Amino acid sequence: FGETIIFEETLASTQPVAHQLAQEGAKVGTVVICEEQTLGRGRMQRPWQSQKGKGIWMSVILRPDVPPYEAPQFTLVAAVAIAKGIEDVAGIRPQIKWPNDLLIDGFKITGILTELQADPDRVNALIMGIGINVNHTMDDFPEEIHGIATSLKLQTGREIDRAVLIARILYYLEYYSNQYVKEGFLPIKKEWESYSCTIGQTIKVTTLTEVFYGKAVAITNDGVLKVQLPDGETKSVYSADIELKKD
Ligand code: BTN
Repeated sequence: FGETIIFEETLASTQPVAHQLAQEGAKVGTVVICEEQTLGRGRMQRPWQSQKGKGIWMSVILRPDVPPYEAPQFTLVAAVAIAKGIEDVAGIRPQIKWPNDLLIDGFKITGILTELQADPDRVNALIMGIGINVNHTMDDFPEEIHGIATSLKLQTGREIDRAVLIARILYYLEYYSNQYVKEGFLPIKKEWESYSCTIGQTIKVTTLTEVFYGKAVAITNDGVLKVQLPDGETKSVYSADIELKKD
């Protein structure tokens, strides 16, 4: 991965650029990266703050030979790859909040946005949007995300070399996405579980259609979150936003 890197100083968002390149046939592992996004986007139509020179704002094109229903697992694959990269380079172990957030000490360090180009039965491309807060001071974050976000610099007390971290993450992303295609999700699930801060917690689940509370009991071999409701019934959650509740 990273043989082809498209670098721009400023983009509205790296995602549409990567989508366009993927449609034009860009190779697996092609990366679009910029110093600053003016319209960075997160999941659920939320904005993503992407301050100039502070973070890693990139989109990586994956082309796994899998059916579209397996696409969500790649968010978990990417979460493991990023967690490993951060651990190697910053010497700090992040936690993964299902499905796609990396936290340190409860504060958000990374968000992943997986978007799909697919036929009904085959994935053509996955556009993995990765945002990592690297060298921000608290003043670099807008007021409204103080108390939610943190950076690697704030957590480690030192400046992190973004190029080194990018290289490490791309290495792991290639390694684990190949492993997924060869061996399936199981070996990666074990890694994912070792970083998880979700399983065993009381959580609030917000999906497109409902909000409920329960206990996160497991992820399945397909990356689906199992939540036990107060009445004992277990629910499968395929896509949602969750909040960890302190109990
Ligand atoms: C989330 O936590 O909601 C996902 C955030 C994803 C942010 C990254 S930054 C690079 C890429 N370009 C975007 O506009 N978003 C993703």
